[in-house]
Amino acid sequence: MNYRHIYHAGNFADVLKHAVLARLIVYMTQKDKAFRVLDTHAGIGLYDLSSEEAQKTGEWQDGIGSILDADIPAKAKPLLQPYLTAVRDLNPDGGIKLYPGSPKLTRMLMRPQDRLSAMELHPDDYETLHRLFDGDFQSRITQLDGWLALGAHLPPKEKRGLVLVDPPFEVAGEFERLADGLAKAWRRFSGGTFCLWYPLKQGAPIAAFHAALKALEIPKMLCAELSVRSDRDTTGLSGSGLIIVNPPYTLKDELDVLLPFLKDRLKQDRHASARAFWLRGEEVPERD
Ligand SMILES: C[S@@+](CC[C@H](N)C(=O)[O-])C[C@H]1O[C@@H](n2cnc3c(N)ncnc32)[C@H](O)[C@@H]1O
Repeated sequence: MNYRHIYHAGNFADVLKHAVLARLIVYMTQKDKAFRVLDTHAGIGLYDLSSEEAQKTGEWQDGIGSILDADIPAKAKPLLQPYLTAVRDLNPDGGIKLYPGSPKLTRMLMRPQDRLSAMELHPDDYETLHRLFDGDFQSRITQLDGWLALGAHLPPKEKRGLVLVDPPFEVAGEFERLADGLAKAWRRFSGGTFCLWYPLKQGAPIAAFHAALKALEIPKMLCAELSVRSDRDTTGLSGSGLIIVNPPYTLKDELDVLLPFLKDRLKQDRHASARAFWLRGEEVPERD
């Protein structure tokens, strides 16, 4: 396990993922009934962007660094507000030093009746995450293979919930594992909302991945993709995608507002593109 998220925290992929995660949680809070968030690949929860590791790549500067003080169009502003308020609340003196990973952002948006279960396998990152949530009875942090949690921890006893699956894609076969993991998890918790993250990069088998998901015959699967540059001259990440299963009915319209703004702010060359579409029952649009 070589992947450490500190090098990438707050980058363009985190911005899309965390902005959407915040929308999903805000939607969940609209009903009084308690929900649980299962975060299968949680990371360390809170990232110091002034650290040597984060400074080394500086990726956050082209991510949250381009968004936090941006002039946000009126329609997109309320949609980004929960996410950006969480980031600002961690940095009360202004600027941005601390950045919330998915479990911390989730926790900041939860209510007293809601619960978080977060899995992290890396021993050091697990220790850090566990310390961050020490004494918080609403959160359970476990050093466990997140793929196993998709079986063992579902359905949650609240019967309402959101499952975030955000693997590091450092070994071959993660796209297949993601589709298989969703199939297993959905059989156990078909009423749950799922959010799966995947990379856009040169050679990534996106069409095959989408085809594998379509074959699962899960009715409501929304796809959101944002590519910030051409993948031609880099073997690194050129963008990222999210699959949202059972999304709030408002999310597609929200993405149609958010993605053009994010593309505009985060683009690194003229090949930047974005699209949001239903995986089943809609012709797949080109990213534009
Ligand atoms: C992309 S990072 C997670 C970022 C986090 N979800 C966020 O948005 O802030 C992926 C994390 O998964 C951890 N990891 C890798 N394999 C895992 C596994 N099988 N089960 C649980 N965690 C794993 C890595 O150590 C890493 O911290």
